[in-house]
Amino acid sequence: MDRNLALELLRVTEAGALAAAPLQGRGDKMGADGRAVEAIRSALASVDMRGTVVIGEGEKDEAPMLYFGEQIGNGLEPELDVAVDPIEGTSLTAAGLPGAISVIALAERGTMFTTHVHYMHKLVVGRRARGVIDLDMDVEWNLRRIAKAEGLPPQELTVVVLERPRNADVIAQIRDVGARIKLITAGDVGGALEAALEMRFGIHCMMGSGGSTEGVLAACAVKALGGDMQAKLLLRDDDDSKVAVKEGHQPNKVLSIDDLCSGNNIFFAATGITSGELLKGVRYEDVYAYTQSMVLRSASGTMRIVDAYHPIDKLRVKELLPEQVVARPGTA
Ligand code: FBP
Repeated sequence: MDRNLALELLRVTEAGALAAAPLQGRGDKMGADGRAVEAIRSALASVDMRGTVVIGEGEKDEAPMLYFGEQIGNGLEPELDVAVDPIEGTSLTAAGLPGAISVIALAERGTMFTTHVHYMHKLVVGRRARGVIDLDMDVEWNLRRIAKAEGLPPQELTVVVLERPRNADVIAQIRDVGARIKLITAGDVGGALEAALEMRFGIHCMMGSGGSTEGVLAACAVKALGGDMQAKLLLRDDDDSKVAVKEGHQPNKVLSIDDLCSGNNIFFAATGITSGELLKGVRYEDVYAYTQSMVLRSASGTMRIVDAYHPIDKLRVKELLPEQVVARPGTA
């Protein structure tokens, strides 16, 4: 696969973030999502690939979303699976809170896990703890194994968890072990990346359940970074169980990182919308809009952090910046 795809993907998530950012903190989730989806769709249209969205946010006709099965790219080779979330952290964007990103992953066709079951349990670690985790075992067992792999007492571990009532039991178990917790209110793709990049963020692990699309996106990034992840579908009721069975999934199966993405040629890109620990958000500085992105390529194992300055007048032409948002009066 052409390694230039990494740069193409970067343009895609930059467009998503630039389109969403003007609505930061304006309380308009749908508006922000709609703008990001359209920007991503249009940026993807010129990418050399025959992509199929295998896990995304919605179904055909449920605008505004990139839907399951949607064909994207310009129709040329290679044929690829696509996981995409134009805004990972819509509520964060609408509230102007830290940590929203625009995110996409590509891998060879037929290699990504796909499901309409909404949530999955997740366990993510960095490369030092690769191979020591098991979602069939309890929190304490896993934390002790991770601590051993890290060469730390369990009390010195920091675990990131999405703050939800359904994760209360996991949080209690982590506290029983005595490890530290970093709670996040949304955005567990970012949480997974922090765990996989432990040396940069001081996070050793992510536990608890979150969205399935976000789980597959995270698995692509974690695999490219050499970390480890396991997941298990969270079946809340009969409907979820029926969906899982209809899709041919074994309900209680622990999904390894290779079950989540068996590809060996993975590309992942994310651009900050609102500033967080992982990436800086969009800023309007003088005549430029600034973006910060991360691009990963599994074949080389490279992680690039890319700062970009986009002339504001050009963004207006591309409708990535509405007229009413002026960076500095008289400059754009
Ligand atoms: P969005 O992309 O829909 O904004 O999702 C944000 C998010 O916090 C994800 O990071 C997480 O996986 C999921 O929502 C959790 O879903 P819920 O808020 O329903 O618990």
